[in-house]
Amino acid sequence: MVDEKAIQEAQEKFGKLLRKQLERVEVLKGEGDWVDYSKLDKLIIGVCGGDGIGPYICASAQKVMEFLLADKIKAGKVEIRQIDGLTIERRVEVMKAIPDDTLAELKKCHVILKGPTTTPKKGDPWPNIESANVAMRKELDLFANVRPVSVPELGINWTFFRENTEGSYVMGSEGMNVTDDLAMDFCVATTQGTERIIRLGFDYAAKNNLNYVSLVTKANIIKTTDGKFLSIAEKVAKEYPQVRWDDWFIDIATAKLIDPARRSDFRVFVLPNLYGDIITDEAAQIQGGVGTAGSANLGKRYAMFEAIHGSAPRMVTEGRAKYADPCSMIKAVALMMNHIGEGEKGRKLEMALDICCQFERKLVMTGRDTGATGDEFAQYVMDTMQRSDLESAWNGYVEKAKKAAQ
Ligand code: IPM
Ligand code: MG
Repeated sequence: MVDEKAIQEAQEKFGKLLRKQLERVEVLKGEGDWVDYSKLDKLIIGVCGGDGIGPYICASAQKVMEFLLADKIKAGKVEIRQIDGLTIERRVEVMKAIPDDTLAELKKCHVILKGPTTTPKKGDPWPNIESANVAMRKELDLFANVRPVSVPELGINWTFFRENTEGSYVMGSEGMNVTDDLAMDFCVATTQGTERIIRLGFDYAAKNNLNYVSLVTKANIIKTTDGKFLSIAEKVAKEYPQVRWDDWFIDIATAKLIDPARRSDFRVFVLPNLYGDIITDEAAQIQGGVGTAGSANLGKRYAMFEAIHGSAPRMVTEGRAKYADPCSMIKAVALMMNHIGEGEKGRKLEMALDICCQFERKLVMTGRDTGATGDEFAQYVMDTMQRSDLESAWNGYVEKAKKAAQ
């Protein structure tokens, strides 16, 4: 016997979910333009450490950020604000992904540096509250998750534009157990949400003379939402005749990232949320691990910069938190510099990171007391950034590595 009552209850719940999404579409239709940071009297940067190793690696990265912006901080053009309350304990206390007072503070900032936060999953000791990351992306409408991966000696220079507010994530906590035997989740694509991420990817490819975009979906199977992603790409691509583009299914794209004959051709990827989540971990691994990759979460009004990995609570319980590698968070600082119009500082920081993490490695992070602490490493990066031969040293290392890779 089919459970008619369960169907009816699910329909009612589904109706409410649809209403919420349609209301979101209306908001998206009225969306404003990008904030022009150069026109602000003062740029406000919020810093929230998060959970586990988050506060440790975030503090090390903050030192680098304050070092880079020292002049502007002194001149009152930049203000750094510490924002508390994004810890799992506090979130559980108020049973919210982001406590209201914390969210209000975040909304007073322009950009945010955020450490990893613990995301409870079914079976964890914590109640199954929504991920703080996902909530922040939604609340601040950070629709573009931009994740660069580069391995110069292998010719790898990829930038992933992951859609960050829709797909399988937007209703990830609103799936339904229709009956004990039937569970359903939902995947969402809106015209507005899809168009803006695809346009940003093409724009980036055009402005940076990369002129090649690979669109990744599984539109042969997930025909409606991924199908929409693909058909909107076809439309947007016409606005960028100078940008070559192709489309890939996520399975084969994942394989091609480890195909030495093909992977160095790729430049810009644009993809729905979940595929972007998965493939960017793979890409980061090719670069040296998720600990080496930073992530920019961009919206037109707000921007948030973070590591791409989790909060590693075990390192804290084992007393090793101060040895956690801050490179991903320092990379996030470099992405922040590029975003706030301090591209030259971002570029120098990226070169220093390459030298410290890949090439010279005068200090090594092992995650325990056999290696450097996060603060020591941050200092090493700052010292390297000040080297007068920074650029030529970086070029030299890359050339050497290229030869070795041949
Ligand atoms: C990421 C992370 C997050 C995500 C988690 C922590 C919610 O994996 O930023 O890639 O799935 O987006
Ligand atoms: Mg991820």
